[in-house]
Amino acid sequence: MKKCVKCSQKAVVHLPHHRLALCKEHYVEWFENRVEKTIRSFRMFSEEDRVLVAVSGGKDSLGVWHALWKLGYIADGLHINLGIGDYSELSERKTRAFAERIGRELHVISLREHIADIPTLKDLQDRPACSVCGTLKRYYMNHTAKKLGYSVVITGHNLDDECAVLMGNVLSWNLDYMARQYPVLEEGKGFVRKVKPLCLITEKESALYAFLSNIDFVEDECPYALGASSIDYKLVMASIEEKSPGTKLRFYSEFIRKVRPMLVAKQDVKLNACRVCGEPTTGDVCSVCRLKMKLQAQKVS
Ligand code: AMP
Ligand code: FES
Ligand code: ZN
Ligand code: ZN
Repeated sequence: MKKCVKCSQKAVVHLPHHRLALCKEHYVEWFENRVEKTIRSFRMFSEEDRVLVAVSGGKDSLGVWHALWKLGYIADGLHINLGIGDYSELSERKTRAFAERIGRELHVISLREHIADIPTLKDLQDRPACSVCGTLKRYYMNHTAKKLGYSVVITGHNLDDECAVLMGNVLSWNLDYMARQYPVLEEGKGFVRKVKPLCLITEKESALYAFLSNIDFVEDECPYALGASSIDYKLVMASIEEKSPGTKLRFYSEFIRKVRPMLVAKQDVKLNACRVCGEPTTGDVCSVCRLKMKLQAQKVS
């Protein structure tokens, strides 16, 4: 039986890549310290910022909100109801219940009221549902945060998510996307700052924190996530990690430290304000306004 390295009680967690065995209480403490350290070392936000956590109802975003609350940060929540049947209803319900538990304000918006639900938009496009959904989530996180006067949006992206994105970008050598992959996306040009305090925490560590903190989260994946290539990349990374603990952390953090600085210098993306809604876009009209126009045209015909 392994013992906690802090208190010698029975360990419930063994983290081989950190060479750590911890009891429940010290694991929770370790996790929250790691979140705090990540926020500080990447200078994600300060006391003056008004902070909004984008919460899906899953373990990562509820977990990061919980950790911030335990650490004494004042952060409100934003939930976007995507209109995906029972999955979205359950997500909203669990998110609302959690906000009540920690006594923080939660803003809820519905895609159906702003544009249309994901199943409708999926039928309108050739792209996979997840890619339209990703665009809309980013748009409404930014738009809502600005409208409500928040300066920072926090998401629950974890190390496994970041490794999967990095692997996808490396496999196609997409240097522009690689240059933009960083846990802090600075404000400016119509964007509020976006940060990822769980970027150095694995999915397993995050699930365990949620479990040990009694967080009631949605366990099911979105029904449209099946077949996404990010799932394959996560499986590949998991099997390498199994044989060689620490691979994920090294892959991501060494990219951030050594490779990304070389790529950033070459980046030059021009952004304009969308002619219709004013949100930032590389073109003349942003992709969300173009979607709205397409929906309108379909209704008329
Ligand atoms: P995903 O793209 O589903 O892996 O989610 C990544 C992050 O985006 C989550 O950790 C949340 O912070 C945020 N997010 C995802 N879905 C929603 C949603 N429906 N409402 C608010 N935030 C969300
Ligand atoms: Fe948006 Fe799956 S389509 S979460
Ligand atoms: Zn202990
Ligand atoms: Zn627009």
